[in-house]
Amino acid sequence: MQSLLNKKIVLGISGGIAAYKTPELARQLMQEGASVQVVMTEAATQFVTPVTMQALTGNPVYTSQWDSSISNNMAHIELSRAADAIVIAPASADLMAKLSLGLADDLLSTLCLARDCPLLLVPAMNKQMWEHAATQRSVKRLEQDKVTLLGPASGFQACGEVGMGRMLEPSEIAEQVIAFFQKKTLLGKKVLITAGPTFEAIDPVRGITNHSSGKMGFAIARAAVEAGAQVQLIAGPCDLATPLEATGKIARTNVTSAREMHLAVLNDADYDIFFAVAAVADWGIAKPSKEKIKRQGKDAPSIEFIANPDILLDVAKTVKTKGGKPYPYCVGFAAESTDLEAHAAEKRQRKGIPMVVGNIGHETFGSDLNQLLVVDETGSKKIAKAEKLQLARQLITLVAKKI
Ligand code: CTP
Repeated sequence: MQSLLNKKIVLGISGGIAAYKTPELARQLMQEGASVQVVMTEAATQFVTPVTMQALTGNPVYTSQWDSSISNNMAHIELSRAADAIVIAPASADLMAKLSLGLADDLLSTLCLARDCPLLLVPAMNKQMWEHAATQRSVKRLEQDKVTLLGPASGFQACGEVGMGRMLEPSEIAEQVIAFFQKKTLLGKKVLITAGPTFEAIDPVRGITNHSSGKMGFAIARAAVEAGAQVQLIAGPCDLATPLEATGKIARTNVTSAREMHLAVLNDADYDIFFAVAAVADWGIAKPSKEKIKRQGKDAPSIEFIANPDILLDVAKTVKTKGGKPYPYCVGFAAESTDLEAHAAEKRQRKGIPMVVGNIGHETFGSDLNQLLVVDETGSKKIAKAEKLQLARQLITLVAKKI
């Protein structure tokens, strides 16, 4: 799936050492289906060559407002009119100051002033420059002018210092550009999500878990942030990266056992939607051993189980109504090997929740693809096989309408 299909992006580059990462950003935007038109400041050409950017994007690279190859010599109008967004990475302190004042003394700044499309800036500078009152004034002005800032991050800087001002990584920028274009159906909403498997320890080295990869839950978390929500993600053991972490719109708590997950969920309050995506163990080990259990002769040890709390059921018990709608709106998941529709409908009744989403075919564990069956008060409907992120976006649209 390409999330930027048919999008035309003007990729601006200003003068800063982080420009060495911009070719990789161009490549990632193009992999997502965007067409990329590069415009560079004079200073940027000291860090990365126009030839590199031209070879990568397959488009001519503009560096001067006096380029006679553009009709009527109106590059500043022409380039911005055709664009869905201008993304500038890196955006230097100098460029940000200039744009915040509406100055237009080269092609890139003129393009920004003449644009009628969104402008996204990815700041990159030394931490002292970022913290300077003048730069912070620029940030405020730019935000007032509805310019979107992506980052900066904190960390090691090219100058050897550590602090705020580091440019986001190309993958983080691409992820945020994609998010920018998604419909904001959950703006101002808070979403709680459980994801992944749980692990029930038998002793310090052994335990019982399941095949859940966490991919569906993480895809829903990403789609919810893309839709404008604030997300709390409670993840069982899985090594997936937190989606859209750099936005600050997602907080992640890692847990191991079902009981830890139960505690983490009940610790949270005041959220609009609860997606119970985790494959939670129904039983825990009654008395996990503190020491590794040694083999004793030929006899296998017997393990006593105890029932784990049902997290979704406990959240469902707390549901109130807000504006005539259930609050939080609870969505359960079902992975069945037979009779998915009947089991999903039964779960919905038994847990007293408005929606259950079934995974069609349990071979989807670990896969990037899935196929869903949504069971709600109107009956059931299939969401055709697609990448989990695409399904997650469709699910978010569906649930956003319910609340
Ligand atoms: N769930 C939960 N806490 C548990 C068990 C399940 O929150 N202790 C949630 C899952 O995240 C999922 C839904 O409940 O959203 C699954 O329902 P359930 O019937 O409990 O799942 P299974 O144990 O797979 O069902 P069954 O044993 O009936 O097949």
